[in-house]
Amino acid sequence: MDAGENRFAEAPAAQPDRPAAAVTGTLFGVGMGPGDPDYLTVRAMRVLEHAPVLVHFCKKGRRGNARTIADAVLPPEPAREFALAYPYTTELHPDHPDYVGALAAFYDDAAGQLADHLGAGRDVAILSEGDPFFYGSFMHLWRRLKDRFPVEVVPGVTGMSGCWTKAGTPITWGDDVLTVLPATLPAADLAARLAGTDAAVIMKLGRHLPKVRAALREAGLLGRAVYVERGTMAGERVVPLADKPDDVAPYFSMVLVPGEGRRP
Ligand SMILES: C[S@@+](CC[C@H](N)C(=O)[O-])C[C@H]1O[C@@H](n2cnc3c(N)ncnc32)[C@H](O)[C@@H]1O
Repeated sequence: MDAGENRFAEAPAAQPDRPAAAVTGTLFGVGMGPGDPDYLTVRAMRVLEHAPVLVHFCKKGRRGNARTIADAVLPPEPAREFALAYPYTTELHPDHPDYVGALAAFYDDAAGQLADHLGAGRDVAILSEGDPFFYGSFMHLWRRLKDRFPVEVVPGVTGMSGCWTKAGTPITWGDDVLTVLPATLPAADLAARLAGTDAAVIMKLGRHLPKVRAALREAGLLGRAVYVERGTMAGERVVPLADKPDDVAPYFSMVLVPGEGRRP
């Protein structure tokens, strides 16, 4: 779709002698940025204001993180929005067959719900933390629907970008190589990847922080590692990882290892 096109303009009326062509809605993946609503893009705001259907993911019985980011700029509107509650989040290992099967069925069902709206001509906006194409659940719906409906992805400021900004630390200099690692990797893989990079971002910490700490120590990088919790959000915390006395890490947390490359 042309980025300059106003997707939300009224459709032209059908000509009396010609049946109206079937018009489908557009699936929008809307990057909500790292947390502070000031980092929402103008395009994201436009889509959020106009889309007739707004959807966000959430943990069962909890408020969705992406929806919470929008709270300051978008009051709840039950008439045009609904939540998709994951069957599991951290209860089962992602490699467990029950997890894989339940998640696949969940995304199939969600895609079916969205297809009903899109097929009826209604645009659907999926609110996604950070950027939709960077470890985003949106991608699983995009994969199921992209060949049937028009799609527009609205890029967002990533969580890691918000975190290194708030930590006041440039992440890459000169020819530094940056490696992005999920903390869920096995310890040996983490250590090997860290040993081979100049700079790193380690996401999805949760209960894996002790393993991450050990891998950083093994790679000789613990002294450079910075822990960031809730970057750009209320309750933000930035601390050298070596000074963090515990291994408690909430969902919104990551470790940064800034590069030390060329600085003329
Ligand atoms: C499933 S990934 C989603 C990433 C997101 N799509 C993005 O572009 O940043 C979730 C992980 O991103 C990281 N994250 C995202 N936003 C963050 C923030 N504001 N502060 C700290 N960590 C954040 C955390 O490591 C969290 O476990």
